[in-house]
Amino acid sequence: MKHVRKKLSVIGAGFVGSTCAHWAAAKELADVVLLDINEGAAKGKALDLFEASPVEGFDSMVKGTSDYKDIAGSDVVIITAGLPRKPGMSRDDLLATNAKIVKAACEGIKQYAPNSVVIIVSNPLDAMAFVAQKVLGFPKNRVLGMAGVLDSARFRAFIAEATGISIKDIDAFVLGGHGDSMVPMPRHCSVGGVPLTEMLPKEKIDQLVERTRKGGAEIVELLKTGSAYYAPSASAVQMAEAILKNQHRILPCAANLDGQYGIKDLFIGVLCELGGNGLERVIEVKLNDEEKAGLENSKKHVQELVDALNKLDY
Ligand code: LAC
Repeated sequence: MKHVRKKLSVIGAGFVGSTCAHWAAAKELADVVLLDINEGAAKGKALDLFEASPVEGFDSMVKGTSDYKDIAGSDVVIITAGLPRKPGMSRDDLLATNAKIVKAACEGIKQYAPNSVVIIVSNPLDAMAFVAQKVLGFPKNRVLGMAGVLDSARFRAFIAEATGISIKDIDAFVLGGHGDSMVPMPRHCSVGGVPLTEMLPKEKIDQLVERTRKGGAEIVELLKTGSAYYAPSASAVQMAEAILKNQHRILPCAANLDGQYGIKDLFIGVLCELGGNGLERVIEVKLNDEEKAGLENSKKHVQELVDALNKLDY
């Protein structure tokens, strides 16, 4: 029998979605379907990317579509559809509009790719993951939100810049919601195995933490017309890769918690083991009082968003 490639579908062919398709195809992770209600955008970008394959030498097929039938059999689906922020907006301002868009995407996924693992990227992330979980009705291991990989990547990039050390040697993670209340974990960061707290003074670390919290807004302010897409899409594709290749990587992701950290039925950023089943397990780390307070504050914020969401008719 001919070997069947893995299949990755990306919903939304905007900057984040099309760049997801780009990273995934270039890494030959799977055949890629790029879906958008704007059929021309999906087809045009997919065809353009496919035409890059002889130059770059990747074998992934890339197909653009506006028809959910084409996502049938997907192993992983990444949802990027939704409006991005404009300068001055918070991610939360997108709640009502994006809830409708994510709901529609999930209805299509539920019908045509009912066995997929779904990664939500649309904002406000933790609330959109909640919408997806509700509409999809999938088990908890198959609905994840992408935020922690991105927020940690920003933190790692800033640490690399501040220390002058290769990005390859920098480990860091961020917990909590994808917003100003996120909880960077400097105590658990290391530079070549050396704790970050031994490499940089506290004031410098505090500055990097603050820049990380506002990392999304920093890009929005610069771009003026939209939000970040290279790092968000690379982050979503790293999660997809861990699942498609059954890597059992530990990555910070938004997961629907089941009592971990005393949180239940809310999506919040935690360390996750990602493998072929999607979320294989949540890894609970011991928190000090400051980190506990940070996570509690982040939980409160996500809960408020979900409460606002539950009052909406979407
Ligand atoms: C950001 C958006 C994508 O953090 O949430 O850049």
